[in-house]
Amino acid sequence: MPFTPTDYLPYDFANRRHIGPSPEEMQAMLDVIGAESLEALIDDTVPASIRQAAALEFGRPLSERELLFHMREVADKNQVLTSLIGQGYHGTVTPPAIQRNILENPAWYTAYTPYQPEISQGRLEALLNFQTMISDLTGLEVANASLLDEGTAAAEAMTMAQRLAKSKAKAFFVDRDCHPQTIAVVQTRAQPLDIEVIVGNPDKMQADQVFGALFQYPGTYGHVRDFTPQMEALHAARAIGVVAADPLALTLLKEPGAMGVDIAVGSTQRFGVPMGAGGPHAAYMATRDAYKRAMPGRIVGVSIDAQGNQAYRLSLQTREQHIRREKATSNVCTAQALLAVMASMYAVFHGPKGLKAIAQRIHRKTVRLARGLEEAGFKVDPKGFFDTITVDVGPLQAAVMKSALDEGINLRRVGETRVGITLDETTRRDTTEAVWRAFGITRADDELAPEYRVPADMHRESDYLTHPIFHMNRAETEMMRYMRRLADRDLALDRAMIPLGSCTMKLNAAAEMMPLSWPEFAHIHPFAPAAQQAGYAEMVTDLSDKLCQITGYDAISMQPNSGAQGEYAGLLTIAAYHRAQGQGHRNICLIPMSAHGTNPASAQMVGWKVVVVKSAENGDIDLDDFRAKAEKHSDNLAGCMITYPSTHGVFEETVHEVCQITHDHGGQVYIDGANMNAMVGISRPGDLGGDVSHLNLHKTFAIPHGGGGPGMGPIGVKSHLSPHLPGHPEQGHPERGGADAGPVSAAPYGSASILTISWAYCLMMGGAGLTQATKVAILNANYIAKRLEGAYGVLYKGPTGRVAHECILDTRPFDLSAGVTVDDVAKRLMDSGFHAPTMSWPVAGTLMVEPTESETKAELDRFVDAMLSVRAEVQAIEDGKIDAQNNPLKHAPHTMEDLVKDWDRPYSREQGCFPPGAFRVDKYWPPVNRVDNAYGDRNLICTCPPLEDYAEAAE
Ligand SMILES: Cc1ncc(COP(=O)(O)O)c(C=O)c1O
Repeated sequence: MPFTPTDYLPYDFANRRHIGPSPEEMQAMLDVIGAESLEALIDDTVPASIRQAAALEFGRPLSERELLFHMREVADKNQVLTSLIGQGYHGTVTPPAIQRNILENPAWYTAYTPYQPEISQGRLEALLNFQTMISDLTGLEVANASLLDEGTAAAEAMTMAQRLAKSKAKAFFVDRDCHPQTIAVVQTRAQPLDIEVIVGNPDKMQADQVFGALFQYPGTYGHVRDFTPQMEALHAARAIGVVAADPLALTLLKEPGAMGVDIAVGSTQRFGVPMGAGGPHAAYMATRDAYKRAMPGRIVGVSIDAQGNQAYRLSLQTREQHIRREKATSNVCTAQALLAVMASMYAVFHGPKGLKAIAQRIHRKTVRLARGLEEAGFKVDPKGFFDTITVDVGPLQAAVMKSALDEGINLRRVGETRVGITLDETTRRDTTEAVWRAFGITRADDELAPEYRVPADMHRESDYLTHPIFHMNRAETEMMRYMRRLADRDLALDRAMIPLGSCTMKLNAAAEMMPLSWPEFAHIHPFAPAAQQAGYAEMVTDLSDKLCQITGYDAISMQPNSGAQGEYAGLLTIAAYHRAQGQGHRNICLIPMSAHGTNPASAQMVGWKVVVVKSAENGDIDLDDFRAKAEKHSDNLAGCMITYPSTHGVFEETVHEVCQITHDHGGQVYIDGANMNAMVGISRPGDLGGDVSHLNLHKTFAIPHGGGGPGMGPIGVKSHLSPHLPGHPEQGHPERGGADAGPVSAAPYGSASILTISWAYCLMMGGAGLTQATKVAILNANYIAKRLEGAYGVLYKGPTGRVAHECILDTRPFDLSAGVTVDDVAKRLMDSGFHAPTMSWPVAGTLMVEPTESETKAELDRFVDAMLSVRAEVQAIEDGKIDAQNNPLKHAPHTMEDLVKDWDRPYSREQGCFPPGAFRVDKYWPPVNRVDNAYGDRNLICTCPPLEDYAEAAE
């Protein structure tokens, strides 16, 4: 038989692994939608005027194996030293069971934010555990389900304090012992809001001159002190008291609640989450019950389902930017859910005794270290501490730092004459001995008689983590099964397409996920010397170059650690530019009605006034209204925020004009890059007239959503804005001369370690692969729109009848014809094993579907089958064939409990539980029936309910 060469490329990542439909499937889909070829479809869909001139050129794409080799080489350029720098980042031991079963488990990391509670009960329970842990450790009643980092959590606390305080003072006090990056992020946040930040000694605070104050313990140099007197003074002045506290220290130290603190914030990084050169890790915030409605971020609460069984869901959502927009409590959307889950599991894994033991060991080691230094004649400060000491070394500072480096240890340079040392869970005796050697002390760390130096008035007296969940049998068998049980309750990408419009739930490939677990990326302190982060620098430089080429911008800042944070950073950059031009008064921001809620919320954070622009009939920006408003506000126009392609999923041809009008009136154009998945390789925001955009790397560039974070929202800017990009105190920024926007995140490159994912994605896809992905994303959306034509109205098509990478399905007519709401449709899709599309945004009562390029034709067809079956059920109600209340749509989702109990419904068990799309053997069973949101908000419970409640639910 002759040898027939095959043209199949088994290691082509873009076309074999990342892009779902095979060439044959694509042809079949093109036939359905009536397009001759993929190119013809794109020509039909994307206006010629917005197409980019040159193809993306990144060189030959790497195979998975080549990628991992390459990443290994780059990883090896990072040097993993023992970092005793502290400053909010610590060595920690990630329990392998948590690393494998959570961090590296797609069932956890590919899940979406738990807005659909019935299919999110597992992660909602884990996040409730997180809230319970934080609430217990801080001694405050309500905690949220994470914030982005400690610095931003402190900034959020400042604005929350302003909302709550009865004091009319305009200043906010910040303890000089807070971490420098926290102070800097707070200052950035305060500046546009006209809040004066007074940094000083807590003993000198004048409570009547501030609306709130922030303190920290342990302080950045180790001080541990009771802030009760400060709280009393603040309360007497009707002001609000905030502390930043290390949750591990709180296992030993008097808790914020016992000091009368109103808001506590901090980082849970050292609860088993690697430093990762800055992130991602979960920050926390806790407050008094009375203040919960003013709290930013998501809050998990306990409610009941349609059968009265206990069920979790996100509570008090009306505080959030989705609904309140510029009046929201903050712009936080993506937070740090996956890392909060990890931290909560760390607490479950160790329990209160384990955490206390870890904290005591760290403390005892620090005491021994201090004693060794003192006995050698060094002056150690403070006298009472937890894990951090500062040593006065006078002129020896450089020598000590250098000797420590030679020992493989990073210490912290404090001023000109001192050295800071913070110990952690990973510190071993030889570390302590090596530190001593760096100070010229030869001594064995073998004196094991324990000594404690926590100040007497700072010992914790109350219990914590008393809930049974923190006392389960901690055999790994039990732990593994607990994590598995929770994961099984949820519907993530590892089971089914998640067709969420504007969220781009694409493949998060395994090879992309591997490097971030490597010690060379995971165990780098964000403030370690630059020489130790050469691998990170190479990655940031190359990824920035690629993102510049993709977007048409000239510079990238990797600092923002979410999309909304990117918006905020971008607007600050614009504001700094205006100031530099002597135009600092410009404060009007035009935002179309259809914008994502984070846009107006971010504009508000930089002190701008939002002027809403109408949408035309076809969903486009109403150009006349835009022009009229730009003219009206010409003198004060700061800029506009538009999304491209629009949130309606259309490539608006008027985009150049919108940008031109804005520029003509002295404004800058912010193009929200959340929809970049429709543009990469085809069109560039920088060419359209954008001055700045954020990119949601957790959408377009393959970082998983993690059940509500992590994310990364770097911004790209045109060259005139680059001097004004966010700076960072640890990087120094002399060339910027103070003109920059100030730091927006605690770490210079935000959640740096997950940049490995986006970089790996770009390297394996290559320019052509990325472009092909965009085209297939558009194909997939058009295929769904075409197949559902007739059954559903598809809103907002382009002039040629095509949609972009997503489409809006109109379910509003069903409410009139059959009393079926968009909610009913969304819940019914769960019975078919699907996460609902984006509900009621940007148009109330509709569903926005975004399949992404990663879904195969078979999966798209399964979804279409499910949607057509929903339509048939609506039809049955319209035709009077089934009761308008007692039907599968209203009872959705159906649980296994429904299946086995007495059945008295006018439709079969088969129809109820196994609608088209549902797998027979691998059926996904929602663990609860429809969750009652209103009940949960009326009876708010945000910590784990007592065990009896679980027992009752089980009965
Ligand atoms: C259009 C748009 N802009 C901004 C954002 C905010 O991004 P993030 O959730 O990362 O803060 C989103 C998030 O869904 C979005 O869809």
